[in-house]
Amino acid sequence: MARMAPLSPMFFFLVLSTTSPAACVGAILKNGLGRTPPMGWNSWNHFGCGINETIIRDIADAMVDTGLAKLGYEYINIDDCWADFNRDSQGNLAANASTFPSGIMALADYVHGKRLKLGIYGDAGVRTCSKLMPGSLGYEEQDARTYASWGIDYLKYDNCHSRKTSPITRYTKMSEALLNSGRNIFFSLCEWGVDDPATWAGGIGNSWRTTVDIKDKWESMTNNADQSNKWASYAGPGGWNDPDMLEVGNGGMTTEEYRSHFSIWALVKAPLLIGCDIRLMSNETKEILSNQNVIAVNQDELGVQGHKVQQDGYLEVWAGQLSGGRVALVMWNRGPAGASITASWSNISLSLSAVVDAHDLWTDEVTSSVQGSLKRDVDSHACKMYILTPK
Ligand SMILES: *[C@@H]1O[C@H](CO)[C@@H](O)[C@H](O)[C@H]1NC(C)=O
Ligand SMILES: *[C@@H]1O[C@H](CO)[C@@H](O)[C@H](O)[C@H]1NC(C)=O
Ligand SMILES: *[C@@H]1O[C@H](CO)[C@@H](O)[C@H](O)[C@H]1NC(C)=O
Ligand SMILES: *[C@@H]1O[C@H](CO)[C@@H](O)[C@H](O)[C@H]1NC(C)=O
Repeated sequence: MARMAPLSPMFFFLVLSTTSPAACVGAILKNGLGRTPPMGWNSWNHFGCGINETIIRDIADAMVDTGLAKLGYEYINIDDCWADFNRDSQGNLAANASTFPSGIMALADYVHGKRLKLGIYGDAGVRTCSKLMPGSLGYEEQDARTYASWGIDYLKYDNCHSRKTSPITRYTKMSEALLNSGRNIFFSLCEWGVDDPATWAGGIGNSWRTTVDIKDKWESMTNNADQSNKWASYAGPGGWNDPDMLEVGNGGMTTEEYRSHFSIWALVKAPLLIGCDIRLMSNETKEILSNQNVIAVNQDELGVQGHKVQQDGYLEVWAGQLSGGRVALVMWNRGPAGASITASWSNISLSLSAVVDAHDLWTDEVTSSVQGSLKRDVDSHACKMYILTPK
């Protein structure tokens, strides 16, 4: 299918008041991965460069012990700062011997032994963003072979120190190298949305960042949600827009703000990569990350990215189609005071005569036989999330 031109602001304005199912999903990466958005954990948001093999192993243990693994969280992803500053005498990437003394292959074995998957981090330039590790530019085939030989399952591929060459060329090179590596490795492009990767990354990666790095702040989280929203029609099974990893549990937002963060990320089919220290998470954090209703929206087989369909100042309605003719709905109050929000059927791809049961995914209450619109009071910086099932 032909790829669409980048959406202009005017086009975005128009789709706000209509429904737009995933109509322009293009090529799909031939590794068969990512039929639903990836779920797991990544070290960066909480630990930054302060990682080592003990922490990664403990996180894998916690993923199983907390019950998160059973809910679908499977990737344990190491971010920047895992490798030695220099390549070895054969030009291979090598683990930092003081922080990962057992090596990455042993870590992969450990993680696989827990029925989880191991992800790693590289860069499409000459050094990674921390500058502490080599990048893969010019070493794509060699590094992909190294990752495959270690048993790596996922590669996050960053965009620092790129010598300003075309990202399409650099990311395509690694994509092909991974396909040739003999192992199916999920390919996560971290190009930050600079060159509108939604328009070209479909056949190259399983996910592509649409935004700058998230910060553990409401403004950052909402900005990333908005930026990723305009690319909604490009997402689908095999290739997802990525507004960056979760900050839930890191302390910079309120519990209700984190609930909005998780609800919207699930609705927009974002990767659900936990970014907190799950060994020490609070009950509130665990409750958010463990909501199976919300996770089911993210993992719905139809793979349609929900998007913003209605906006009245700070009061927003986001919605997306689910399998079985159902609709996922988020009523989101981004303003400073509580307010009433009405989600109209005409804006959420339901016929006006449709009668639905509205299942509140956070309280588990079901309101039967709702017709035409759903009206709810929503607190400041909070949301309500529903699955609407037509009768
Ligand atoms: C290994 O990691 C430590 C901690 O990040 C760092 O100080 C050290 O320079 C690294 N060693 C090499 C050889 O890269
Ligand atoms: C990893 O870091 C933790 C916490 O800083 C420390 O207790 C542990 O000994 C470290 N392990 C390795 C292998 O460096
Ligand atoms: C957290 O949940 C556990 C198990 O459900 C419970 O035993 C514990 O008291 C809770 N902690 C707090 C601070 O509520
Ligand atoms: C649908 O959404 C548009 C755009 O936000 C809004 O102007 C309109 O009032 C909504 N329709 C209804 C019936 O609420």
